[in-house]
Amino acid sequence: MRIILLGPQGAGKGTQAQRIADKVGAKHISTGDIVRAEIKSGSELGQKVQDYNDRGELVPDEIIVQMAKPYLDDADSWILDGFPRNEAQAKALDAALDELGEDLDAVVALEAPDEALVTRLSGRRQSQATGNIYHVEYDPPPEDGDDPGPFVQRKDDAEEAIRRRLEIYHEQTEPLKDYYAERGLLVVVDAEQEIPKVTEDILEAVGEDA
Ligand code: AP5
Repeated sequence: MRIILLGPQGAGKGTQAQRIADKVGAKHISTGDIVRAEIKSGSELGQKVQDYNDRGELVPDEIIVQMAKPYLDDADSWILDGFPRNEAQAKALDAALDELGEDLDAVVALEAPDEALVTRLSGRRQSQATGNIYHVEYDPPPEDGDDPGPFVQRKDDAEEAIRRRLEIYHEQTEPLKDYYAERGLLVVVDAEQEIPKVTEDILEAVGEDA
């Protein structure tokens, strides 16, 4: 399986990528997670990308492509979450796949209105122990100790950064739907439904058993 999850911030790309990766055994590649891990490591590259991340701005294309490429080279079967986010990145991905002799199976666009996304992002919590994503109301962390946490809020989930990220999505990332639709790769899934139903629809759309 080689699929891209495309969608606005909070549509559930990370949530769904995790669930599908667990189910089909593909690798979940999240450029957001890669950026956050680099920041946490305190490396020079991490310091370079931190300000973009915290403000909700995109990391420059050449840096993000360089950060994502080794992960693509490493796995045959993957779910890409958060990459590509503009046409330049989509072209860089095309070139990387050509080089590897691989094809994309599908691009899944998760759709939900902006108001719902702001509520989701404001209530999001991520486990520092497992990286799992939760929501204080819609998908609370388990109380049985299955995930020890702690459950923290991301810096870029502050309201101002959320609005900026959504603005960038509509300007730069949403046009990629046409880019992939023209190649017959785009499938659209209603991301406003409950989490398990969205998973089911994605699996069905990419021809996997739910
Ligand atoms: P990244 O981590 O990719 O953030 P994002 O795109 O802003 O996406 P999110 O993680 O916010 O949303 P999501 O769709 O994954 O939603 P989630 O599943 O968590 O990127 C962070 C930063 O890194 C960028 O701003 C940029 O600086 C940099 N970066 C990354 N990639 C880059 C690139 N390619 N180029 C340049 N820079 C890049 O769900 C959200 C919440 O909703 C959760 O609480 C979840 O529990 C809940 N939820 C999910 N689904 C449902 C549902 N169906 N019903 C109810 N609640 C739900």
